[in-house]
Amino acid sequence: MAARIRKAVFPVAGLGTRFLPATKTVPKEMLPIIDRPLIQYAVDEAIEAGCDTLVFITNRYKHAVADYFDKAYELEHKLERSGKLEQLELVRNVLPPGVRAVFVTQAEALGLGHAVLCAKEVIGNEPFAVLLPDDVIWNRGPGALKQMADAAQATGASVIAVQDVPKEQTGSYGIVATQNFDARQGRITAIVEKPKPEVAPSNLAVVGRYVLNPGIFELLENTTPGAGGEIQLTDAIATLLQRETVNAYRFQGTRFDCGTHIGLIEATIRYALDHEKLSDSARQLMQNALAELGVEDLE
Ligand code: UTP
Repeated sequence: MAARIRKAVFPVAGLGTRFLPATKTVPKEMLPIIDRPLIQYAVDEAIEAGCDTLVFITNRYKHAVADYFDKAYELEHKLERSGKLEQLELVRNVLPPGVRAVFVTQAEALGLGHAVLCAKEVIGNEPFAVLLPDDVIWNRGPGALKQMADAAQATGASVIAVQDVPKEQTGSYGIVATQNFDARQGRITAIVEKPKPEVAPSNLAVVGRYVLNPGIFELLENTTPGAGGEIQLTDAIATLLQRETVNAYRFQGTRFDCGTHIGLIEATIRYALDHEKLSDSARQLMQNALAELGVEDLE
């Protein structure tokens, strides 16, 4: 039995160019699905998995992320005075008691691998999680990271989330080759960045959840810039798996790529249809919209 993960890293220093012009002033991670920003979904998943130290890798323009997790004295005071206790609870629970947020600045956007490396001092010598808030994972049961943390704790190995993608989409993902894959996990033997379908070793694609052993930091320090001149996390993982076991974990849940327009729309529809108070009206208005546009009923 290995150590339980307690620390989670959220790389949020990217430029978010796919959501310009909105991301001129609103960081991508602050775009909402209904009433919660993307970052909150990832944070909740990390807390559910047992993390109590959340490390945000930001840049100097992303004050909104730090402000969001800071205490909002004036707002809380106003809500309290006007008796809006439900809303007060929502504002206070952005970070529950006992969970601390640490902010580290990535001076230059040198890539995801470099962003993770920026967390080295805060993480120290223990296994940790990395969550990319663009990837929102919806599940009725335990969250994806909780599933992975349990698997990592049982084996002591690093664990990377994967999902099956259609063969023609392998060029958009890191793709892994595995051995001894049971229903949920298997050892990674190779990881290839964005292979064309004809050379892809499988259709198991890496998505934005990782549980990594701290040995990854030394490898990141020695990783030279790869694709796009960026220090790639995938390159360091490719070296890590030659030294120790790294497992691919096919999590239970549906992942939405909220770094793309269509992914954010899809996630919004899913959360609306599954929402306690909004599901009936969301379903009705979708049917109305389809009918108005001359599309057949949803049924
Ligand atoms: P993306 O590849 O999605 O880039 O980064 P991006 O800048 O966020 O978005 P686009 O492509 O321009 O629209 C994947 C993750 O890595 C983080 C991003 O914030 C995102 O969570 N990242 C990327 C960093 O923190 N630092 C970097 O230097 C690069």
